[in-house]
Amino acid sequence: MRSRPRRSPSRSDLRVIHHLRAAGVSVVVDARGAGVPVVLHWGRDLGPLDDEDLAALAAASTPAVPPSSIDVPFRLTLAAGLGDGWTGRPALQFSRRGDTPAARAARAPRLRAVRERREDRAEASALRMTVRDDEAAVTVELDLELTAQGLLRSRATVHNDGVEPLDLAAAGILLPIPARAGDLLDFTGLWARERRPIRGPLRDGIHARESRHGRGGHDNAFVLAAGTPGFSFEAGEVWAVHAAWSGDTAVWAERSALGPSTLAAQELLAPGEVVVDAGRRHTGAWSVAVYSAEGLNGISDRTHAWVRSWQAPPPRPRPLTLNTWEAVYFDQSLEKLEPLIAAAAEVGVERFVLDDGWFLGRRDDRRALGDWTVDPQVWPQGLGPLVERVHAAGMQFGLWVEPEMISADSALAREHPEWMLGRGGDLEWRFQRALDLSAPGAADHVFECLDALLRTYDIAFLKWDHNRDLLHARAHAQTAAVYALIDRLRAAHPGVEIESCASGGARLDIGMLPHVDRVWPSDCNDPVERQRIHAWTTLLLPPEYLGAHVGAPEAHTTGRTAATSFRLGTALFGSAGIEWNVAQTSEGERAQLAAWADEYRRRRDLLHSGRVVRIDTDDPAVVAHGVVAHDRSEALFSVATVDTPAAALPPALRFPGLDADARYRVAPVPIADGPRIIADQDPPWYRDGGIELPGRLLAETGLPMPLLAPEQLLLLEFTRL
Ligand code: GLA
Repeated sequence: MRSRPRRSPSRSDLRVIHHLRAAGVSVVVDARGAGVPVVLHWGRDLGPLDDEDLAALAAASTPAVPPSSIDVPFRLTLAAGLGDGWTGRPALQFSRRGDTPAARAARAPRLRAVRERREDRAEASALRMTVRDDEAAVTVELDLELTAQGLLRSRATVHNDGVEPLDLAAAGILLPIPARAGDLLDFTGLWARERRPIRGPLRDGIHARESRHGRGGHDNAFVLAAGTPGFSFEAGEVWAVHAAWSGDTAVWAERSALGPSTLAAQELLAPGEVVVDAGRRHTGAWSVAVYSAEGLNGISDRTHAWVRSWQAPPPRPRPLTLNTWEAVYFDQSLEKLEPLIAAAAEVGVERFVLDDGWFLGRRDDRRALGDWTVDPQVWPQGLGPLVERVHAAGMQFGLWVEPEMISADSALAREHPEWMLGRGGDLEWRFQRALDLSAPGAADHVFECLDALLRTYDIAFLKWDHNRDLLHARAHAQTAAVYALIDRLRAAHPGVEIESCASGGARLDIGMLPHVDRVWPSDCNDPVERQRIHAWTTLLLPPEYLGAHVGAPEAHTTGRTAATSFRLGTALFGSAGIEWNVAQTSEGERAQLAAWADEYRRRRDLLHSGRVVRIDTDDPAVVAHGVVAHDRSEALFSVATVDTPAAALPPALRFPGLDADARYRVAPVPIADGPRIIADQDPPWYRDGGIELPGRLLAETGLPMPLLAPEQLLLLEFTRL
């Protein structure tokens, strides 16, 4: 199965087919010969294959030469382009500055293999394939890594070995997908409506999703999945890609008329945005590719396990958080917040976060971004008294910042007008500009402001916001700069947690994730929307990263009124919190919140470590999902109606993911005033407060659910007997 690792063999030595295997996935890469390596297989585990088998696989993968085509069998290489006879969209594109059109044409990349290196480590098998275009004087390293969880990462590094600068148009890798992966899923969205699925067939041509927001954007494709017809959470084979980058991105699926289909995810570069000077190199963003033979649940299984294997996962337990935004908006003062602190402590909040409105001159969203000192008019003694009160009430203190931005009406802009991206004619967005983090001194200045705040006050958490699109072809530099800025701050203040927020969920991706501890999936706290938003966000991100707050009964963003139990139950399945003026709630509501907070504390270990299982329901009005402990000893499931259920006798709901050979006690978990049920008589098991059933039956025949009224949530716990 393993071939010998090789060190810089000469070109003629390259005769190796690599078989990478992990967690039910095989990747076979033919790196023999002088051409760019080819992925012969990315998908289901092929079992152990010896060199002879691999050679046979390569032979069997060689196609015919069709009429009116190149005169050799077509090979879809990792860097396929015109030089290989690939007329589809290339993932790797560059041009030499100063070339005449003729020279440029001659230099359509003609890459030849130089060497490959393989390293098998516990966490991943890594292949680095070096290819070179001698005439263009460009060397490219193509990295493919199959992690222990079966996730395939890839990226390209382009070296400029020439004299003139090199303009990069694309720096990524093409992955092949089989013809049966003809069904596509990706996402679009709007503010407060992030990650709306788009489904459709993969037709001849390109299905491409490009983000030019300078952040993922509310309509970010997020994941592009191609699968067997009708693939779902529980069923079908799926090949999915994600661009692990928080700036502009391109993801696409292409079916060529020739036959082969490809999938790619990479950073999207604007013309001239990335120029590689002589002797320098540029490393493209990682593309994360995941195969699953068990539907979309298999995709989240792999990504969650991988993310959880990182060196610095978010500290656990994840504290119950209260954020002041929807409670008071800009109306801040110690007097106003004291009752909120008291009520938060009463219901069991563990972290109190002061949102936008605390800094110099910030009375509304029209000014003051950049002036990161405490406003003495609102906070005459600084934030000290507030922080003290929060600590005295037994909670941590957190603070909102938006460090990458600047208001035209700010002391900072008056002092450094040159730090505003697109000075003068640029469009404002939420009355603000982006701060040019690569302008000399700008990033240092922001660092010093934040560093001073973190030194002055005992701050456990920063909600790091980003409330506009860049609208400027500087996304690469800006994104690299924000990663560096966050990392510098974290190095200086290792205990401080950071949340990535961007007008809600416009910047949550696997590029940002290693730099932060939490993401804010949406400004919408309406549970109907949150059920959907979380269903898709957890495709990649584990629930412990996802801020999930209980809002007011009437959602501020939609005006929809939701039952307390629906709101509480929905917020339980994330990094839970409250976005509601609990000082203005009734004693009864606070008692319900306190009971829910206890429930969260009791179950968060399971919720933040277990396997996320989403159920394919027969009725789209029913959203059902759960978290199953890795040893399958327990699970918590949520069954919610996001619309009016279709049937008076809802079909039995199956609960997959449990231990088929064990028996479980299934019992409803009371939450606030419980779900509202429309029935003259509930199913007996429900009336009796639970039932014992074998896991196999729960997965196959299921349980009849009580008929939930629209917009209700039923919580069920499963305990192995
Ligand atoms: C953005 C965030 C909100 C809130 C406001 C404050 O919209 O998404 O949660 O912090 O900014 O201005």
